[in-house]
Amino acid sequence: MSAAPGSVEVHDLRVQRGSRSRPVVALEGLDLSVASGSFVAIVGPSGCGKSTLLRVLAGLLVPDGGSAHVAGRSVAGRPGSCAWMPQRDALLPWRSVLDNAVLAALVGGEDPKQARRRALELLDRFGLGEVAPRWPAELSGGMRQRVAVLRTFLDPAPVLLLDEPFGALDALTRQELQGWLASVWEDAADGAPRRTVLLVTHDVEEALLLADRVVVLSAAPGRVVADHRVAHQRPRSPDLVGEPAFVADRAELLAALGVPRHPPVSGDGGRAPH
Ligand SMILES: Nc1ncnc2c1ncn2[C@@H]1O[C@H](COP(=O)(O)OP(=O)(O)OP(=O)(O)O)[C@@H](O)[C@H]1O
Ligand SMILES: [Mg+2]
Repeated sequence: MSAAPGSVEVHDLRVQRGSRSRPVVALEGLDLSVASGSFVAIVGPSGCGKSTLLRVLAGLLVPDGGSAHVAGRSVAGRPGSCAWMPQRDALLPWRSVLDNAVLAALVGGEDPKQARRRALELLDRFGLGEVAPRWPAELSGGMRQRVAVLRTFLDPAPVLLLDEPFGALDALTRQELQGWLASVWEDAADGAPRRTVLLVTHDVEEALLLADRVVVLSAAPGRVVADHRVAHQRPRSPDLVGEPAFVADRAELLAALGVPRHPPVSGDGGRAPH
């Protein structure tokens, strides 16, 4: 039976990092099944293996045990099945914003003219049309992250792996970018099927605002300790955070993360522990 193009299946995954003399088991016994076209957020304490999981799916790390499949094919040592946005934006400083944006599309084999046209359209939509000819170093942190998200979207791969795409941004820019991400994902271009998104975040509210499902990983070695379906209708407004159902979801996820119910210091926006 052929699997859907954006389906992700991870079974009994084990990944060891570090050196032979000082090994670190980053992931152990991790199972995850993601339906094509769904939006899944992954949360978990710092160091629990979230970035490691995305690297495995990106085909950049070969697992030490278990399996990882995209569209029914093993990704072990086989990059290219997923578009990956690493934890740091990784824009190439010697390429303009537009040339950075089209990079993944060109590597994916898209016609350069068409890639540039699509990139310019998206840059406009992301409020970056004017900076297309500029260098990454001339942009603010928020602009750089927008370019990096956009580049990932322009990659034709059916699965998008976003590793804390909005980390280290101020609350307003973060909210703005969350809105962009949701709308770009919801209105798939030209009636094409929606792509699968795996979004790593430390922010439980962000996870609940964007995802269909929130998967919680344990402290290292990471494995799935909670898998929460998010029922809120789309499109979702940021005002949702005040609604009782949202507050209840947030409390449930924070409990799964082991965050105390009444932490002594508040005002962190529902962040997972670091
Ligand atoms: N290149 C590396 N060499 C050695 N150990 C590593 C390497 N990268 C990650 N690790 C270890 O693997 C474990 C998982 O790291 P990973 O980066 O996947 O965590 P994470 O959940 O993404 O953390 P964070 O939320 O801080 O980004 C950690 O113990 C980390 O120290
Ligand atoms: Mg990480």
